[in-house]
Amino acid sequence: MKVGVVGAGLVGATAAYALTLRGSCSEIVLTDKDSARAEAEAQDIAHASPVSHGGRVYSGGYDALAGSAVVIVAAGANQKPGESRLDLLAKNAAIFREVIAQVTAHAPQAALVVATNPVDVLTDLTTRLAPEQPVLGSGTVLDSARFRHLIAQRAGVDATHVHGYVLGEHGDSEVLAWSTATVAGLPVTDFMAARGRPWDEAVRAEIETGTRDAARSIIGGKRATYYGIGAALARITERILGDRRAVLTVSAPTPEFGVSLSLPRIVARTGVVETVMPRLTPAEREALAASAEVLRQAARTL
Ligand code: 2OP
Repeated sequence: MKVGVVGAGLVGATAAYALTLRGSCSEIVLTDKDSARAEAEAQDIAHASPVSHGGRVYSGGYDALAGSAVVIVAAGANQKPGESRLDLLAKNAAIFREVIAQVTAHAPQAALVVATNPVDVLTDLTTRLAPEQPVLGSGTVLDSARFRHLIAQRAGVDATHVHGYVLGEHGDSEVLAWSTATVAGLPVTDFMAARGRPWDEAVRAEIETGTRDAARSIIGGKRATYYGIGAALARITERILGDRRAVLTVSAPTPEFGVSLSLPRIVARTGVVETVMPRLTPAEREALAASAEVLRQAARTL
């Protein structure tokens, strides 16, 4: 099981590292226009292999992607402090036009996992550039994790027992679907009431801001985010490799919204096989429609 990673910057390299630590695949190849950087990252990650789950990690040109079951595309510029994800569209779309042509030429059987921002619009573009391959974007898998983490802190339970989805854009217009949030199987409000935990508008607003502005705050402190997204990419990739039918809020073309955005999707070896539309409140539905409109407008500028 071979995974290609195009773009050996912080996100691509951390995804490869997470795949190595998790033992998600037997072979990882890193490709970057800066071949010395790709080689250095591959060597560094390869040294983690013998003390984790084994497996080969190496670098190479696009031809080395041949035989990959999944290719993670993390090439392109990332946000600078003060930039939004959508600000990156023009420059990263130009990079994608070159990169995806190479990936499809050398790894025509691979499922493509788009990580570069703005991830929804670039997922849309990639489905057009690689129409024969499964394509999905990391979307709001990370935002849903941030949402769950913040609820878990308030609930006083482990985050793996908290569920809840962030929908729409991976970006400023994303929708925290509170109606999907559960703790230990209970609606979050019921759980907090039963345990006597503070739960009001102010707490929810804090969680909203903490989720929506997480990247901005981390970029302010250390110029980039990569551990969270690296782990999210590893999770998505291993679910594809294992044909697991995992439910993940990945980004994919959504005909009813005319754009790619995140909804809970069943993810298997062939990519997204089904979408599970949650039962949303009217306000959440409205916010999701508004988020889709933001993405449609961005897509029109391509
Ligand atoms: C993140 O949310 C910047 O999109 C990246 O961490």
